[in-house]
Amino acid sequence: MNSFIYDIPVRVYFGKNQLCHLGEELSKYGKRVLLTYGGGSIKKSGLYHVVTEEIRNAGLELYELSGIAPNPRIDSVRDGAQMCKEHDIDVLLAVGGGSTLDATKWMAAGACVDHDPWDFFSKWAPVEKALPMVTILTLAATGSEMDSGGVISNPETLDKIGRLADPLLPKASFLDPTLTYSVSPYQTACGAADMMSHIMEVYFNIEPDLYMLDCFMEGMMKTVIKYAPIAMQEPDNYEARANLMWTSSWAINGFVNGGKRQAWSCHPMEHELSAIYDITHGLGLAILTPRWMEYCLDETTVPKYVQFGVNVFGIDANQEPMDIAKQSIEKLSYFFFDTLKLNRTFTEIGVKEKDFQVMAKKACADGILPGFKPLAQQDIEKIFAMCL
Ligand code: NZQ
Ligand code: ZN
Repeated sequence: MNSFIYDIPVRVYFGKNQLCHLGEELSKYGKRVLLTYGGGSIKKSGLYHVVTEEIRNAGLELYELSGIAPNPRIDSVRDGAQMCKEHDIDVLLAVGGGSTLDATKWMAAGACVDHDPWDFFSKWAPVEKALPMVTILTLAATGSEMDSGGVISNPETLDKIGRLADPLLPKASFLDPTLTYSVSPYQTACGAADMMSHIMEVYFNIEPDLYMLDCFMEGMMKTVIKYAPIAMQEPDNYEARANLMWTSSWAINGFVNGGKRQAWSCHPMEHELSAIYDITHGLGLAILTPRWMEYCLDETTVPKYVQFGVNVFGIDANQEPMDIAKQSIEKLSYFFFDTLKLNRTFTEIGVKEKDFQVMAKKACADGILPGFKPLAQQDIEKIFAMCL
């Protein structure tokens, strides 16, 4: 186990009726608030009204930026950073899913520099500071509410790039599971696949594990497997939504990866899919993950599959390791494609073979994608081909 620093300084307000603290939380950072949101789900659900009332009742000045798209675009970030500068914004309030939160993080950073916010990605410009940001999460999936990352797309260059930076950590996040009652079964399923992948990217690691963290991750995976189908069938099941929401945060907030080498595989591959095809992140991960598992399975890696199959899916441990490993992949595929009803192949969602080469090259940055099993461009192309 490697040494690590554990520091998650995000204040979390979890549960129903916590928004009564919103005004007091925002007021800590000043008077002028930029409210950011997506395509209108917060208006449909009535949340917009509640939030703006809270802001006004606290005597704060409200500015708004809407229309942040799924797989958020750099143009929204540019607009938001510009608004922050023009109106001397003190604090940003992101209300929505991961896309709104991610875009807002980079607006907060973009507000503090003179250069184009895309330079954070294309030139890796330093992220020394950001305006304070508060979030109200409406979709359990990405963990953006409690991490320092944000993923931004540039349709002109066909890039989708994620980056972590400490100044981007939200100061506070409001996690009210009832706000996710209106999430569609499809988005609930994609969110579940995303959470599973965040955990699996860390769990599947060839370095010696910390037993305690592995047990924690197995518990989270079992939570997703148990509650995602319930949330899809009974959208207003509080227990299901609450379990998913808190798992979304803990899957990626820095706790489980403390002590592990960071080497993600499916996410870099998926970001290339979304960059070209603008597909939902969790859907791409669901299609890729079982194929990636199949590709990486060999005599060296098999013990981890056995641990996964036995502890997460309850497969009988008294069988040949390879048999257990193959069954664990089948169980995961069944969960994604039959239980969550997500598309099974690239063909179904229109991803074409002609793009494999360029996507694979970018996914491994023209080198080796380090991970559970290091992957070169040809390996990634083969994994893509298995998804057809
Ligand atoms: O835009 P609105 O109208 O709000 O609708 C959204 C959107 O259409 C809708 N939605 C959200 N909350 C809802 C709701 N609909 C009804 N009721 C609600 N309560 O859901 C749709 C998808 O929203 P989006 O924010 O795009 O989904 P998600 O949370 O899955 O975010 C995906 C983005 O996050 C990035 C992904 O790459 C993708 O760009 N990620 C961010 C990470 C991070 N910050 O650490 C890590 C992840 O691995 C991921 O890469
Ligand atoms: Zn993800």
